[in-house]
Amino acid sequence: MTSHDLDRFKKAAAFKAAEFLRNGMVIGLGTGSTAKHLLAALGEQVRAGMTLQGVPTSQETATLAGQLGIPLLKSETRWEIDVAIDGADQVDPHFNLIKGGGGALLKEKIVAASAKQFIVVVDHTKQVPVLGGSFPLPIEIVPFGWGSTVREIEALTKSRAVLRERNGTPFQTEAGHLIIDVHIARIDRPGELETALNLIPGVVETGLFVGRTNILIVGTPEGVQVFHAAGS
Ligand code: A5P
Repeated sequence: MTSHDLDRFKKAAAFKAAEFLRNGMVIGLGTGSTAKHLLAALGEQVRAGMTLQGVPTSQETATLAGQLGIPLLKSETRWEIDVAIDGADQVDPHFNLIKGGGGALLKEKIVAASAKQFIVVVDHTKQVPVLGGSFPLPIEIVPFGWGSTVREIEALTKSRAVLRERNGTPFQTEAGHLIIDVHIARIDRPGELETALNLIPGVVETGLFVGRTNILIVGTPEGVQVFHAAGS
């Protein structure tokens, strides 16, 4: 399977997600390669006369949305988000996620948490029986005392944490924080781990999205599959 194939599956799933949108909605706009396909679909809908407003989860998404003519709400606005749509790095059978491969997890979680409905779009290779293993868990931390924060995270998870770098210098999030990637073999109880990590001073947010997904849309070689979480 080539990256081109995977991109086709992501695109088909993202365009399926756009079918859930209705005139007048406020949409949380995710970040990443899957979200880019979603933006393209939204751009088509706006050009066709649909009234949508977006809340971007990164500067990258805001820029692309602007180029596509998708109106955006300001971050200071008290949003009423109808639907947030985003990609993910891993999805478990309970629709719990690891996100943050692109470093936008803080805004992504704020937007997902404030949306009435959260739709997750992935290709089938992101589906895993249990979170962890092949994909490290991103955690956003404050720069002050970061070494001590990392030590506590490693002690809690009994796993190795690596400071994320870009071009040889520490990666900085849009909020001015750092990201560490924690190599955890398997995350059997993601909800408990999320709570415990958030209690460590210096941790801003984790890439664990637990119990938030309402609809999961998966692009596969056999077509697009749509799953609804229990009670959604
Ligand atoms: C951005 O910080 C991430 O949470 C992305 O949503 C996630 O990494 C999925 O990215 P792709 O859609 O590029 O696979």
